[in-house]
Amino acid sequence: MRQPATRVLFVCLGNICRSPLAEGVFRQLVRDAGLEDRIGIASAGTGDWHVGRPPDVRMIATARTHGVDLSAQRAQVLTPALLAAHDLVLVMDAENLRNARALTRDPDLTGRIALFRDFDPEPGDRNVPDPYYGGDEGFEEVYAIVERTARAVLTHLRGRTPG
Ligand code: 4NP
Repeated sequence: MRQPATRVLFVCLGNICRSPLAEGVFRQLVRDAGLEDRIGIASAGTGDWHVGRPPDVRMIATARTHGVDLSAQRAQVLTPALLAAHDLVLVMDAENLRNARALTRDPDLTGRIALFRDFDPEPGDRNVPDPYYGGDEGFEEVYAIVERTARAVLTHLRGRTPG
């Protein structure tokens, strides 16, 4: 199999709520579009507390109600090598953006990092709210944001991925 033409990395703080959801939703959209050989997908956290663990049970449950299975994912920490291995690094909030950019001084690498919600078609806050310390409704809100924004990311990539 050829190398994927574009490799996308989703990043949040713990890699157990927001970025695993983005990975799972985006993977499903890419599969539905028949582009799984062309677009590589992964996620990571700027913090290492949850490395090796599956996503938060509340995030897995919310995703499952929408037909998205996150249960096989395992958290990993964002490193300069992981940044370098991806073409587009989409971070969930401004804190993630600062932390990701602080990992390297290479402008080629920092230039790959953007806010995920810069692609959100709806106006408003550009941060995906962290649902970790809140109630179930926070997970549903994150799902809605991630779903519409992931669609827009795929539309963007289809506009620039040859073949
Ligand atoms: P995430 O949520 O960044 O969306 O995965 C969090 C998960 C864990 C923690 C914070 C946020 N934590 O402090 O452990």
